Amino acid sequence: KPMRLWGGRFEGGPADALTRLSVSVQFDWRLAPYDLLASRAHARVLHRAGLLTEEELERMLGALDDLERACKAGEFRPTVADEDVHTALERGLLERLGTLGGKLRAGRSRNDQVATDLRLYLRDHVRTIVSRLVELETALMSQAEEHASTAAPGMTHLQHAQPVSFGHQLLAHVHPLTRDIDRLRDWDRRAAISPLGSGALAGSSLPLDPTAVAAELGFDAAAPNSMDAVADRDFAAEFLFCAAMIGVHLSRLGEEIVLWASQEFRWIEMDDAYSTGSSIMPQKKNPDVAELARGKSGRLIGALMTMLTTLKGLPLTYNRDLQEDKEPVFDAVDTLLLVLPAVSGLVSTMRVNTAKLESSAPDGFALATDLAELLVRKGVAFRDAHEAVGHLVVWCQVNDKDLGELTDDELAKVSPHFTPDVRDVLNVAGALAARKAYGGTAPDRVMDQLVALREAVDVQ
Ligand code: ARG
Repeated sequence: KPMRLWGGRFEGGPADALTRLSVSVQFDWRLAPYDLLASRAHARVLHRAGLLTEEELERMLGALDDLERACKAGEFRPTVADEDVHTALERGLLERLGTLGGKLRAGRSRNDQVATDLRLYLRDHVRTIVSRLVELETALMSQAEEHASTAAPGMTHLQHAQPVSFGHQLLAHVHPLTRDIDRLRDWDRRAAISPLGSGALAGSSLPLDPTAVAAELGFDAAAPNSMDAVADRDFAAEFLFCAAMIGVHLSRLGEEIVLWASQEFRWIEMDDAYSTGSSIMPQKKNPDVAELARGKSGRLIGALMTMLTTLKGLPLTYNRDLQEDKEPVFDAVDTLLLVLPAVSGLVSTMRVNTAKLESSAPDGFALATDLAELLVRKGVAFRDAHEAVGHLVVWCQVNDKDLGELTDDELAKVSPHFTPDVRDVLNVAGALAARKAYGGTAPDRVMDQLVALREAVDVQ
């Protein structure tokens, strides 16, 4: 017979189809540790309100401890007959305490309980996600440190644009992650509000102390409006935005790594431990980690859409639709905790092909801008400089030459501005070093950037 928290006014039992539709214990069981935490705090507040004797409180806390132990040991398990995590745990309490177990439900509802549990679960897991993000940042930063002076082809439109420090490019993937961590910290400030005490929607007529409960559970404050408190899932939606944004950042990094590892680029070689083979082509070494990082961003974005669509148009206060808030949240947490360590491993073990990067950095006339800017320093209008260098590039293409290979005569033929000293700017190291203003790709600035990032990450 199914365990129900609401049997009193019903004559027959629920239809099987209803039970199957409504049961959530198969996915909300992971909230059990948080539900038990909240139950302990609630037991204490009932005691302070004079609704549990000292002795009853002791027995209640003892039973909750034992239930927690039994859950951890796998001795106590939810069954298909338990509707949700709250129902299952109340069964466990009744099995241990008899009628006393039924006293804990006073002054609270599953509506404020589930909202509290999910906040506790998320605040806890967000801390783990932040640690995993810091590990990925650390992996990117140590590669960046090693390659601060390694020139690489910098691209726009996936076309060679200007040479950059490869370290600069790697750090360009760290900054978004730093913003993600910052977003999660800021998220926590708003998530740190306790719904417990709101009851079903209106608060309780019993002399409870929501502020004390909030403090005991590590929240900053109790919710100021009981109706908002049981209906609000902003914290879940906002977390899912943060998760989706992280997913997008990992996807872009993943896409770059897929390109870098290709035969056409050969910028990096992936470690065997972080690449996969083919069942038919013996030579293959595939970037599956990077591809899964790219692929799984889709489900993170999907989770955010699921949440927003669920919330849109719900009247106050609790509606059963809100049970749909949990699976997207759990899936996003699981996905991030799965993807982040794999990407960190991929990045920290990849070998950078410095020679290939350096040799292809000037390809595609990537130093053309430097040439035009030299003319500007000599007083030529940029518009004319741009035009003259453009002609020079075409001349080179037609004659199958690189900018650096031109003779004095050939240079002079294209434009009188091209005196032999222009060849001085036609080297990649000089082009990097010249971009030495704040935020530029000069290796010295990259090292400054690294110091600042490391400081920021330490604070995080
Ligand atoms: N299991 C429900 C949920 O996850 C909580 C129960 C509230 N149910 C109710 N009928 N008021 O949202």
